[in-house]
Amino acid sequence: RTIYTAGRPPWYNEHGTQSKEAFVIGLGGGSASGKTTVATMIIEALDVPWVVLLSMDSFYKVRTCIQQQEQAASNDFNFDHPDAFDFDLIIATLKKLKQGKSVKIPIYDFTTHSRKKEWKTLYGANVIIFEGIMAFADKELLKLLDLKIFVDTDSDIRLVRRLRRDISERGRDIEGVIKQYNKFVKPAFDQYIQPTMRLADIVVPRGSGNTVAIDLIVQHVHSQLEERELSVRAALASAHQCHPLP
Ligand code: C5P
Repeated sequence: RTIYTAGRPPWYNEHGTQSKEAFVIGLGGGSASGKTTVATMIIEALDVPWVVLLSMDSFYKVRTCIQQQEQAASNDFNFDHPDAFDFDLIIATLKKLKQGKSVKIPIYDFTTHSRKKEWKTLYGANVIIFEGIMAFADKELLKLLDLKIFVDTDSDIRLVRRLRRDISERGRDIEGVIKQYNKFVKPAFDQYIQPTMRLADIVVPRGSGNTVAIDLIVQHVHSQLEERELSVRAALASAHQCHPLP
């Protein structure tokens, strides 16, 4: 099995002429709700070659001026507002990737609040999982999602996880995490994230602990992929049909 992050799928061609439309799963939910863990569990259980995980975090806008960098360093910058993301780049990237074409993805560094110099290349996939806190916040973006899943984890569990993660992986301290949580993360969840739950096809309570939900999601994706394969074959067969001359 190939859990695909780099390399080219067999159908890929430089010009994108042999492209194959991917099935796109959108995975929304609050910060530290377990979106990445749910995505990984879906990928494992799907057992399909060429699955790609695209994180919205890669598309945070670059903070160019010193004032913004200082605000970010003192936990006074609002990273939980839709304006913090480069939605134009997200949509353009997801559109191309869905068509089976290669894309360049920025790499975001949470410790410096900036993009790294190098970008990574993704080529195309059978299934794309797009995850992020604002995954369902844009109408154009919603149109690209074939299945929308909302991970609904209690806010106290999310806060504890976020404290642990931000201190151990994102170079933050306890006071800063709590300040940012109360000032931006919690109000943004109530204003922008929680209301998008109603746009989801499936809500997964408890996140990665909910193996029944993950099984059901995987069954659905399998049946969608089979349906697509059948319609591609039927289209090919009819294109090759030979009609007798009149
Ligand atoms: O991985 P997760 O979905 O939790 O990432 C989103 C969170 O990352 C947001 O809630 C935002 O507050 C935080 N963030 C941050 N510093 C940045 C960029 C985002 O703390 N430079």
